[in-house]
Amino acid sequence: MNSETLLEVFRQNRDQYVSGALMSQKLNVSRTAIWKHIKKLEAAGYEFEASTKLGYRLLVEPDPIIGEQLRDRLTTVRFGKQLVCFEEVKSTQDLARTLAEEGAPEGTLVIAEKQTGGRGRMGRGWVSPQGKGIWMSMIMRPEVPIHCAPQLTLLTAVALCRSLKRITSLPIGIKWPNDLLVNGKKISGILLESAAEDERLKYIIAGIGISVNLTESDYPEELLSKATSLRIAGGHSFDRTVIINEFLKEWEQLYDLFQQEGFSSILSLWESLSVSIGKTVMLNTPQGELIGVPVGLEESGAIRVRREDGSEVAIFSAEMGEPIDRR
Ligand code: BTN
Repeated sequence: MNSETLLEVFRQNRDQYVSGALMSQKLNVSRTAIWKHIKKLEAAGYEFEASTKLGYRLLVEPDPIIGEQLRDRLTTVRFGKQLVCFEEVKSTQDLARTLAEEGAPEGTLVIAEKQTGGRGRMGRGWVSPQGKGIWMSMIMRPEVPIHCAPQLTLLTAVALCRSLKRITSLPIGIKWPNDLLVNGKKISGILLESAAEDERLKYIIAGIGISVNLTESDYPEELLSKATSLRIAGGHSFDRTVIINEFLKEWEQLYDLFQQEGFSSILSLWESLSVSIGKTVMLNTPQGELIGVPVGLEESGAIRVRREDGSEVAIFSAEMGEPIDRR
């Protein structure tokens, strides 16, 4: 017996509990063997409900991002047209960088079902379980000076926020610089890593992590107060292929606008989606801590913050804390 045979039994009994006794009788294996297969399926993204009296019920089957299926559904011109899909990688960032060094064109997209060493900003890790999220990195080769790289991070956050809001109808906003939050919890992160030569960008690897169908048990305890997924927030799972296509379309359009007209229209879009502006926050900057109210975004990508004494300062890099209640 293999896991596929077991799955067939569950599929034939959709929405119903199947007892361990019935399964072992039907498949002619021990109940321990059944349990082992269930554990294996759970590790691959399947979800079951277990009842001591009734047995198991199949709740969720993972939806694999099958390369060919995604390729057929993509309606972009360049973004994602060169598509490289993996089952399991350490980090899609590393593979995209290797491809970029080998000369892969702009828009080349690396996607993995699972990352074993997903990277976040500030040296942190990124929870990337099998089949539950969108873990991908895209090669960009913009014709802009190196100091414009932060603008591309903000542009990416705007594209992601707009497409996710449209698909999910959830109240998603951007926390400076590029975290996407729903009800104060993070659902997505963006990591831009660049390579430059003589003050010009050689390429950028834009890493996007979207926590789509993760459940609470996918997160370590300490992250549960800070992180969530579209499924937890929305109450049902979402089709990852639809999200990837919608996001890539939006991203490509904004990127073209940026190349033609510069950053100003992206800046206004970012400000309209921001959940940081107007709230008192603590900022942990390389120069020390600062309490103030973000009042707007600058062309450079820095956030303009009004300090408690009324003076304003531009912050280029910082960790922004939760809003502080000043009532
Ligand atoms: C953050 O800390 O907010 C950024 C998280 C970026 C995670 C994505 S998942 C795909 C790509 N590969 C990685 O290792 N990291 C990025």
